[in-house]
Amino acid sequence: MKISFAKPALPASGTVVVGILAGRKLTATARSLDKSGGGHLSRAMEAAAFEGRAEQTLTILAPAGSGLSRLVLLGMGEAAKLDTAAFERLGGATWSAIANAKDKDVTLVVDALPGCNVPIAQAAAHMAIGALLRSYRFDRYRTEATEKKDDKPQVGKLIVSTADHDLAKKAFAPMEAVAEGVFLTRDLQSEPANILGPVEFSEECQKLEKLGIKVSVLTEKEMKKLGMNALLGVGQGSARGSRTVILEWNGSKAKTPPLAVIGKGVCFDSGGISIKPAGGMEDMKWDMGGAGVVTGLMAALARRKAKANVVGFLGLVENMPSGTAQRPGDVVRSMSGQTIEVINTDAEGRLVLADVLTYAQRKYKPATIIDLATLTGAIIIALGMEHAGLFSNDDTLAGQLTKAGQETGEKLWRLPMGDSYDKLIKSDIADMKNVGDGRGAGSITAAQFLARFVESGTPWAHLDIAGTTWTNKDLPLASKGATAFGVRLLDRYITEHIETKR
Ligand code: BES
Ligand code: MN
Ligand code: ZN
Repeated sequence: MKISFAKPALPASGTVVVGILAGRKLTATARSLDKSGGGHLSRAMEAAAFEGRAEQTLTILAPAGSGLSRLVLLGMGEAAKLDTAAFERLGGATWSAIANAKDKDVTLVVDALPGCNVPIAQAAAHMAIGALLRSYRFDRYRTEATEKKDDKPQVGKLIVSTADHDLAKKAFAPMEAVAEGVFLTRDLQSEPANILGPVEFSEECQKLEKLGIKVSVLTEKEMKKLGMNALLGVGQGSARGSRTVILEWNGSKAKTPPLAVIGKGVCFDSGGISIKPAGGMEDMKWDMGGAGVVTGLMAALARRKAKANVVGFLGLVENMPSGTAQRPGDVVRSMSGQTIEVINTDAEGRLVLADVLTYAQRKYKPATIIDLATLTGAIIIALGMEHAGLFSNDDTLAGQLTKAGQETGEKLWRLPMGDSYDKLIKSDIADMKNVGDGRGAGSITAAQFLARFVESGTPWAHLDIAGTTWTNKDLPLASKGATAFGVRLLDRYITEHIETKR
């Protein structure tokens, strides 16, 4: 869907979206349409019990003589309660109401809202980005045979009509750059594992060179030389090679140490010899969700020319059972020198991340490290899909990330860490084992494992995104499927805390 901004004026034809505040309070354009149509809108709202609650929508026939085909009444709730995140959700609701409009062009009218604290241009830009994010659809594998029957959205263009349209357009540009990153992430997360293995993923990354990102790829031979045996052990059962990808964006003129962002990239997680049950195993194609987020984030930073030095790292493997696969009980020596007893081959993400953490620190001396991983089923039990799990050794970093989460709607909830949890991964024959004792605190023991690979107090945060990477129902800003949760969150964190002012 294309988005454009235009001065306030009703089109001669087509579908128009107008806002209605809580208690059926008409915004300016809605009022004038109601008046010229002899109370058309008021009667429709009455008949349909439409109250104007936030994100409630009602599609009606346009008043006779207006030339328009349909009107979408968009409930906005109370003006004083609207913040930028709320405007994004309104944009998302707009898209779902217009997706199947027969008109190719739809006009969204954003009128001044007395009592609302968000400037009108910002409101318009945030509504536009909400609509755009919600409009994403992965239809690469739909052929004519089913696509037509399946209500393919007809709307091609959303014209946002508002007073400060030039300002809105300017505010929208960097948001659109981030949306491009979100869409890249969603494409990667949606791609089935027969198409996207570690090598194919690394080839997709190489395409980012055209955005000014420096891309390097470590092959198995190179990783072997570096001693990345924990990562290699996970991939050794697969017929496909493992890769580590490094994505560098040096957007700041200052030679400051970079932010490192690390993603778990298990292109398919069968569990390995500790094989998973059949039911739901198809979900494990998006076990590379964290690596997908890092890739999309780096693309977003480059597209909006962020004044920040950020290095992305992807640990790409496929976890498969076979005659060459790693066995429960195997001991591997990680790049850090620490040894690991592999009790369960399905606790593979932490093994991959351990070596990538070490590589990132040895090679790039980052100021701060953030990793993202679809790491544990236990985080889904704890937090569902409302929040991702946050683990950190640094209260300031944890606070900054939590705030960025609230602002973008990609919310985090911090869980505890500490020595008593660390004890649970003690091994009898190696420095540690890859799962905890007993069934409790599975997400925390996973984080404790990672913490053992964070060197000399570098501020570090781990985001367990197993519950938020994929959605089985439509969300305000993401239709069913891949969410790219984390891209907008980290983009915001970088804007607020990493970017230099000049
Ligand atoms: N990739 C899974 C975690 C996961 C589960 C992600 C569901 C998304 C949805 C991870 O590798 C895994 O298998 N974790 C195990 C750890 C256990 C063996 C200690 C789990 O959560 O069951
Ligand atoms: Mn697993
Ligand atoms: Zn996994």
